[in-house]
Amino acid sequence: MSDVLTGTTTGAVRHRGRNGVPPQFRPPVAPRHFVGRAEELARIRVGGVTVLSGPCGVGKTALALKWLQDKGCGDPLYVDLAVRERLGDLLCAFGLSDVAADERAAVFRSLVVRRQFTLLLDNAGSAEQVTRLLPASGTVVVTSRRKLNIPQAQEIELGPLADDGRIQHLLDQSYVELPERQARLYRLCAWQPETFDVPVAAAIAGEHECDVEDALDDLVEKSLLTEVGDDAFRFHELVRAHARTKR
Ligand SMILES: Nc1ncnc2c1ncn2[C@@H]1O[C@H](COP(=O)(O)OP(=O)(O)OP(=O)(O)O)[C@@H](O)[C@H]1O
Ligand SMILES: [Mg+2]
Repeated sequence: MSDVLTGTTTGAVRHRGRNGVPPQFRPPVAPRHFVGRAEELARIRVGGVTVLSGPCGVGKTALALKWLQDKGCGDPLYVDLAVRERLGDLLCAFGLSDVAADERAAVFRSLVVRRQFTLLLDNAGSAEQVTRLLPASGTVVVTSRRKLNIPQAQEIELGPLADDGRIQHLLDQSYVELPERQARLYRLCAWQPETFDVPVAAAIAGEHECDVEDALDDLVEKSLLTEVGDDAFRFHELVRAHARTKR
């Protein structure tokens, strides 16, 4: 079975054996079949701050992970800024549990410099959220759905992946190998414009939720669908476009 787009957002599989970085702060693995983005990969700086901005699902996190995997220097530290209390949790995980709330950012910055971590700040909501965490030196990659306009950062705006035909071929290969229930769900759910959950998919397919749940999990495993949280699913835009061509 050929995987096409290996999901990264739920981050179930993580790098192992890194120097003392607690598992929940290690980056997820990059998509196994990463395609394109050569120009953007070359632009991300070692030493300095790069912000990858662009719409939901365009591939910001995937690009950052691919860069970390191929070119990153130092141990990578992954912080999902969309998770509440992430900084406090992180410091606790490094044994720094009693830091006062207003000193956490400073302690975090010094930890990053001291350990020379390469920092991935994923899902930043604002420039302020990022700037207070920026270490005095080192490499930082930030992802955000918004343009952040941070003065000391270079910002790379990501557009949709240009499809040179390879992706379509891989998708076709994966599609023809799907059992009929999965193939039908793949076709039907692709008409959902955004994120959807099991009850919505079950309603669309006219099937029991438990059957649909298994089939969706199978699509995620085959990298045709992305799980974006607890019981929430989304198609990458290229995959959605592919699914909509199927009858
Ligand atoms: N260049 C690529 N090659 C292979 N797979 C990719 C590529 N870009 C994105 N994907 C896949 O597409 C899906 C969505 O990508 P990703 O999670 O990186 O989007 P995002 O821009 O970070 O979205 P969000 O704003 O929701 O965080 C993932 O399954 C990812 O693995
Ligand atoms: Mg992301």
